[in-house]
Amino acid sequence: AGLDAAGGQPAAVPAAPPKAAEPLTILFASESGNSEKLAGDVGKLARKQGFKPKVVDFADLDLATLPKAGKIVAIAATWGEGEPPARAVRAYGELMGDAAPRIDGVEFAVLALGDTSYAEFCAIGKALDARFEALGGKRAASRADLDLDFEKPAADWIKATLKALAPAPADNVVAVDFARAGTEDEDAEPSREPHVVEVVEHVNLNSSRSDKETIHLALAFEDGAPAYEPGDSLEIYPENDPQLVDEILRSAGLEGDEALRKALIAERDITTLSAATIERFVKATGHEEARKLVESGEARAWIEGRQLIDLIETYPAKLTGEHLSAITRPLPPRAYSIASSRKEVGDEVHLTIAAVRYETHGRARSGVTSVHVADRIRDGAKLRVRLKPNRHFRLPQDPATDIIMVGPGTGVAPFRAFVQERRATEASGRSWLFFGDRQFTHDFLYQLEWQEALEDGSLTKIDVAFSRDQPEKIYVQDRITQHAAEVVSWLDGGAHLYVCGDAKNMARDVRAAVVKAYETVKGLSPADAEAQVATLERGHRYQQDVY
Ligand code: 2AM
Repeated sequence: AGLDAAGGQPAAVPAAPPKAAEPLTILFASESGNSEKLAGDVGKLARKQGFKPKVVDFADLDLATLPKAGKIVAIAATWGEGEPPARAVRAYGELMGDAAPRIDGVEFAVLALGDTSYAEFCAIGKALDARFEALGGKRAASRADLDLDFEKPAADWIKATLKALAPAPADNVVAVDFARAGTEDEDAEPSREPHVVEVVEHVNLNSSRSDKETIHLALAFEDGAPAYEPGDSLEIYPENDPQLVDEILRSAGLEGDEALRKALIAERDITTLSAATIERFVKATGHEEARKLVESGEARAWIEGRQLIDLIETYPAKLTGEHLSAITRPLPPRAYSIASSRKEVGDEVHLTIAAVRYETHGRARSGVTSVHVADRIRDGAKLRVRLKPNRHFRLPQDPATDIIMVGPGTGVAPFRAFVQERRATEASGRSWLFFGDRQFTHDFLYQLEWQEALEDGSLTKIDVAFSRDQPEKIYVQDRITQHAAEVVSWLDGGAHLYVCGDAKNMARDVRAAVVKAYETVKGLSPADAEAQVATLERGHRYQQDVY
């Protein structure tokens, strides 16, 4: 009844009573914020289409709510070597475990985000998709597995999926009672538009005798810096190494094509090699030897430590510009934690960028963005950038709250922003920095600034761990262990703890050291100490920004 609104009903006839909105739970498992942003987009569009959406971070998910969640859209990022985002680990583990509730009849759809340059592409989204089905859910739309250039396909997927999930006319409405409020917020987001900025400072923070090179970069926004907060990141749109582009063009028999050269420098990812890249290469060229590599199942192992240039040199083929474009993906921007506070630097953004250089299979390799910045950018150069907000790495709201910051290497960047912010706002809370790097004399990033901050009181304490100044390694977590009683006492007093830097080992080892601190200082069992840290995490008092 009343479905045919265009059928010309006289205005005086009352329309059918409005149907109560259909509940839709939008779950996200996000590390860098992309899945979270998309979940917010789903929420906004769903509301317009008559759903009653609720956006829920996996970090806050109570599994008991799922059977009554109505319909579910889950957006999940895969991190590192096929792991869930740090904040999602608990709920993800519960969902995969034996105690997970059944969700019979619940309709669901999964959007998976990943990065084809890692082996386990979209593993978490794939696993969730299978798990919802195994628990009795009904797949309403098929999963999409998206690479770093996800924005357009994600928007298409969201539209199609909401259509598939749209309420049937006679659907009943289910009450949902979430243990915790959703995290959807309608706050205006700071501008995500790309800006062209000018480099006004470019200095190597390491001494010339260091084996590391860490660039301090100050960028000026002529049109006013976007409203960033300490904890946010800035994405840089890099350019590829022109010499590498030339090598690829030479191997492909395409030297001299200036337009193509320009496009490869600025627009295509010419380093990442994934199984999908090889498959596209075989499809484009029909290369028999490369096809054998794919069919043998050895491609994955062969990829290890190799890049596109290795593929093209090992399997020479006459390529066209179209081939190269079909084989590669768009060149993604790279996000760096912002190292400044607007309250101190005005319309600038400062970044701390370590040049990534290494050698594999007899060939020198370099991080696309970091080495572009280190080698080919100087004072006065222009860069294209975009703000990437991170609501999950934030100073405490109360300026009187103490903070403990753990940031070895470039992980120290956001803490420079924190200390600047607290100085500018004259925050009364204490602040304690754990910094680590290789050698005191060569690698003490921002050493003079920390000394000044100690003098003016914006930094209360600093403890440093220089790993290569003595025969045995000393790391930031060893300093935490040494100061366990004081760390626990700060945390008991309400301090927030922040960890930034290497996701693979450091963040995990630091967390273990904090758990251990509770064990030794309070005489807790490992399980009870673990529960203390989990409580800090759930209360957003233990926050990580890792990469
Ligand atoms: P290393 O390179 O001497 O092993 C910044 O990169 C600092 O982090 C370096 O001093 C590095 O030490 C150190 N580091 C390496 N692995 C770490 C880990 N698992 N935990 C903490 N610090 C680590």
